[in-house]
Amino acid sequence: MRMTSQTLQKARDFEKQYIPFVPEEERAQFHVTGGIGWINDPNGFSTYKGEYHLFHQYYPYEPIWGPMHWGHLKTHDFIQWERLPAALAPDMPYDKNGCFSGSAIELPDGRQLLMYTGVREERHADGSTRAYQTQCLAIGDGVNYEKLDINPVLTEKDIPRGNSALDFRDPKIWKEEDAYYAVIGNRPADGSGSVLIFRSEDALHWQLLGPMASNHGQYGMMWECPDYFRLDGKDVLLVSPQEMSPIGLEFHAGNGTVCMIGQLNEQKHLIRENVHAIDYGIDFYAPQTLKAFDGRRIMIAWMQNWDTSRSQPKGIRIWGQMTLPRELSIRDGRLIQQPVRELQNYYGEKIAYRNVPLSTETILTGVRGRVIDLTVNVRPANGSVMYRSFRMNLAKDGEHVTTIKYKPEQGIVRVDRSRCGFRFDIVHVREFPVYSKNGCIKLRAVLDKHSLELFVNDGEQAATFVLHTDVSADVISFEADGEVLMDVEKYDLVFNRDE
Ligand code: FRU
Repeated sequence: MRMTSQTLQKARDFEKQYIPFVPEEERAQFHVTGGIGWINDPNGFSTYKGEYHLFHQYYPYEPIWGPMHWGHLKTHDFIQWERLPAALAPDMPYDKNGCFSGSAIELPDGRQLLMYTGVREERHADGSTRAYQTQCLAIGDGVNYEKLDINPVLTEKDIPRGNSALDFRDPKIWKEEDAYYAVIGNRPADGSGSVLIFRSEDALHWQLLGPMASNHGQYGMMWECPDYFRLDGKDVLLVSPQEMSPIGLEFHAGNGTVCMIGQLNEQKHLIRENVHAIDYGIDFYAPQTLKAFDGRRIMIAWMQNWDTSRSQPKGIRIWGQMTLPRELSIRDGRLIQQPVRELQNYYGEKIAYRNVPLSTETILTGVRGRVIDLTVNVRPANGSVMYRSFRMNLAKDGEHVTTIKYKPEQGIVRVDRSRCGFRFDIVHVREFPVYSKNGCIKLRAVLDKHSLELFVNDGEQAATFVLHTDVSADVISFEADGEVLMDVEKYDLVFNRDE
């Protein structure tokens, strides 16, 4: 194995020196955070030697985006993670400006292959600089990786004529019986986005097959971080488009996430049957999936969004976290998401109430907390009389509150975190359509200190939000406009995490 480069060694030394000093309050209890500094996209979420590995976009030196490294963790159960030293640093001529997103796979000889985007800036005669993106490989043993001499393995020469070499990134690799495949985001000549599919016999030498999907300006522009998999008899393609225009309440402006469900034809082009948002919250981007040892398809995403990611509170040492890993399935043509079932192994005290009548603001003894899994089942108290709204207040104290409101007649859930402690005038409210009937809705809120992940009707929809509220604000209350009955089940989530 080649010696670790100075750039990588510097990052690893920095980690050793400063990770121990990150204050515990800054870390989520069971969500992945970076060792130190900044993180964005999950990378290389994959199985290796009986464990699950997760890498991520990483700038250790400050809690802001910088020349990208890869951070690294592994787990047995998606909840307790072991942190490993930084895996990649921008230390070669072809990736000197960043090791951008990519993926990982176990090779037949037991080594682990990383495929990532190398970024190389070049200055042109007119004084402008351009960042060229190529695909690169590194092979290692689960801790140390050597970049291959044949890098870069995919360049401008390998993409369709007229497509941009400046927007060619985020390879996601998988293996089928006959060969390895990879999907990679690229910008075609019309300036929008497409996902190219490549094939390889040995995972080292790659050939373009063609576009798996293109957007022609629909669903945003450049498509970042594609992920493809088969699930429940369907072909599924996830992409994270830049520059979305809003479409009703389904897609919001800016960086979004899109799930396309359909069937691949013989040219491996996706014939779409259904297209919808993956997550309806504010803080969710660049999801990546793996197939677990027991066959489940598990997805994890960056719990942030580019448009809100520059809102770091002053003085923090780590910024950015991942969502909970979520189990995926398809129901009625839609992607269903549930927190991994392993979360239940960490259930502490249970508090449950049934048939609680609700109108004015109500606090239930024992129902509070900021590291909890809380499910509320709501229905009209008198079946034939519809209520106007149900509201759940979370992370509440005298000054702060985050609200989840359901309006049955409009069929809309509205989450408002504008009083959660952010000191930035960024997006704080999201509304999205839900598919509840007769005023019955099931809301599951997973809170982990500075985040809220909401799952509606057993994962029919998910909505993810970062909260800035101090963890001492842990009051929960419920109210209704009209007559409502509700059941409540709350578990504390308990475990020790060693850093
Ligand atoms: C998505 C993304 C990727 C890129 C990476 C850079 O969030 O923009 O397209 O590889 O982040 O950090």
